[in-house]
Amino acid sequence: MEIKIKGEQINLRKLKKSDALSIYQNAKDFDIAKYTRLPYPYKLKNAEDFIKITHQKIKKKKVFEFGIELKETKKIIGMMSLMNIDYNNKNAEIGYWLGKKYWGKKIMKEAIILILNFGFKKLKLIRIYAKVMHPNISSIKLLEKSNFQYEGRMRRATLRKGKWMDDLMYSILSSEFKSKPTAQNLNSLCYASCHVFLSSLTLIKIIFMI
Ligand SMILES: CC(C)(COP(=O)(O)OP(=O)(O)OC[C@H]1O[C@@H](n2cnc3c(N)ncnc32)[C@H](O)[C@@H]1OP(=O)(O)O)[C@@H](O)C(=O)NCCC(=O)NCCS
Repeated sequence: MEIKIKGEQINLRKLKKSDALSIYQNAKDFDIAKYTRLPYPYKLKNAEDFIKITHQKIKKKKVFEFGIELKETKKIIGMMSLMNIDYNNKNAEIGYWLGKKYWGKKIMKEAIILILNFGFKKLKLIRIYAKVMHPNISSIKLLEKSNFQYEGRMRRATLRKGKWMDDLMYSILSSEFKSKPTAQNLNSLCYASCHVFLSSLTLIKIIFMI
């Protein structure tokens, strides 16, 4: 299935074989591996294998692995995954990472809005959750700023490089999600309000004429 979710700074799209080098360049930093399940050291071969695996998983619709494409360069600078999709209970998990030189530009905040919109509107999910290894402050802040609620601490839930980590559970419900209006939506919103305003003026004019 070929899905491309268009945003303002970024798009979410299916990975291509030719994306391996940019995935490798962005994923190889230790700060990406620190609180994720990405291998470290990260090799070009890891990126090539990852792309092959994502194509197999997407076919089964159990997971949607989207590359985060920077619109300006068309390069993949990170990943956004919708995984562990439970169609019966309408729940799914998100996982994400972004190349370090792109941090702090609200790119992941936009990617989260795009994936929530896809999960809630297209897949009709009712709950989307994220598990954060304690103490991944950047990810915690990102989720809080994206309206996720803290649900609790799963003690010793992850073994990372021989060390037990606690996972913090965050989630957002479809009823709590308000997608930020895009420029396109704003135009139509403006068109609608201008239309109402002009119609009211016409109505007032008619009343005075009568
Ligand atoms: C976590 C991560 C994805 C954040 O991405 P990002 O694009 O830098 O985040 P954004 O710029 O969209 O920030 C979103 C909000 O969180 C805040 N935030 C992000 N990092 C923060 C930090 N370290 N301290 C305080 N606030 C922070 C931002 O200020 C912003 O808030 P605002 O909208 O009110 O300004 C990125 O740091 C990353 O890839 N880390 C390594 C991989 C990882 O840990 N993945 C998560 C696994 S659970």
